[in-house]
Amino acid sequence: MPGLKKIIIAIDGPAASGKSTTAKAVARALGYLHMDSGAMYRAMGLKALQAGIDPLDAVRIRPLIGVTSIKLQPSDGFNVVFLDNIDVTNQIRTPAVSNAASVVSSIPEVRVFMVNEQRALGATGGIVMDGRDIGTVVFPNAELKVFMIADPRERARRRQKELAEKGIKIDEDVLVAELLERDNRDSTRSASPLRKADDAVVLDTTALTIQQQVDAIVLRAMERMK
Ligand code: DC
Repeated sequence: MPGLKKIIIAIDGPAASGKSTTAKAVARALGYLHMDSGAMYRAMGLKALQAGIDPLDAVRIRPLIGVTSIKLQPSDGFNVVFLDNIDVTNQIRTPAVSNAASVVSSIPEVRVFMVNEQRALGATGGIVMDGRDIGTVVFPNAELKVFMIADPRERARRRQKELAEKGIKIDEDVLVAELLERDNRDSTRSASPLRKADDAVVLDTTALTIQQQVDAIVLRAMERMK
């Protein structure tokens, strides 16, 4: 939009709180790029699994960092994810990879690698990035920071629907337990834990439609772009 500043919009929050879907639609509405930082940790988790390395084994994961290429390529509203130049966009969405991503993301060296890549992606502004530490660590000066939350059962239902569309059937209670375990790990790790930035706007999406979530963020973004 001519005459308006190209800002950075940081969207953080717990697992399955609707961050990526919302971030993607906000980016489309503003003509911005959407970058899903979680997809990068997922690619790293997949790499560990493919190499037969326990994601908890930091000693064996650290050497992987220097020999791994992870790229997000925006394509028609979603991110194509390349791990060592192979498209792993669908492979990284399984529950096993969700868990591996959460575990490898607590390794400080993995985070440094990701944060450097993410900062480079946002260098020119005009970006919506979602994750866990975007407003606190990756872009502490982002013009707009949103912290999205939602009731765990509602989050599990959304995740269940998303997985069903990919042919994966999982019980709702199992998903609630997995989400809470992942949230707990993501928020209690010592390296850049999931935390609301002091200046982030909290958006509880439990009872909101995607359109309402998007409108709420776009409205605030337009104010900050002036
Ligand atoms: O957003 P997601 O569920 O796709 O993220 C997968 C995991 O990656 C999540 O459990 C924690 C980690 N992650 C992170 O530590 N920091 C980010 N900025 C994004 C994701």
